[in-house]
Amino acid sequence: MSTPLKVVAVNGSAHQPSRTLVLIEALLAGLGQRLVLDSRIVDLSEIARPLGAALTRAELPAGVEAQVAAIESADLVIAAAPVYRGSFPGHFKHLFDLVGMTALADKPVLLAATGGSDRHALVLEHQLRPLFGFLQALTLPIGVYASTADFDGYEIGEGALAERIRLAVDRAAPLFAASARPLRRAA
Ligand SMILES: Cc1cc2nc3c(=O)[nH]c(=O)nc-3n(C[C@H](O)[C@H](O)[C@H](O)COP(=O)(O)O)c2cc1C
Repeated sequence: MSTPLKVVAVNGSAHQPSRTLVLIEALLAGLGQRLVLDSRIVDLSEIARPLGAALTRAELPAGVEAQVAAIESADLVIAAAPVYRGSFPGHFKHLFDLVGMTALADKPVLLAATGGSDRHALVLEHQLRPLFGFLQALTLPIGVYASTADFDGYEIGEGALAERIRLAVDRAAPLFAASARPLRRAA
């Protein structure tokens, strides 16, 4: 019996619709083909306002506190954010400022980001990875960046982005062998 992998995906976009959310859903779908998942999305579009009003963890409303606690207890965090001014949005950082200082230590984190332009693809390496490095998380080697041109509106077709998502899933899935879906026998 596989043990479900608790995946908590954080969407750092406070907007709807959200390409970052579309990317998260594609990553979860890809991982879900390989692993038994117990997944949850923490969506800034739902919690950005109460989150922003809380200066400390103690000031968080119960519903948002539960989402922060879910991040802390995840087996795998997908940290996905849109690029704002060359980095992640401030409210995304504020969320992780309220996560316990050592709660992400040794926790696998899959990085993802979307931006208007390909020129900011290294936001994964120069902004997101150092943040999670500070938190002592185990950031997975391959993250996924997507620019607006990679999407067909708010959909992901069968182009280069789908290939990058497959690669990230192929590299991530073997790390969670205890949650692997049983292989289907060929008829
Ligand atoms: C305030 C703001 C700043 C942005 N700054 C950048 C930027 O520096 N580089 C970039 O490539 N895109 C930038 N963008 C575009 C967004 O990153 C891009 O549209 C992203 O996919 C939006 O994600 P969402 O659809 O999940 O909200 C910016 C957008 C906003 C609203």
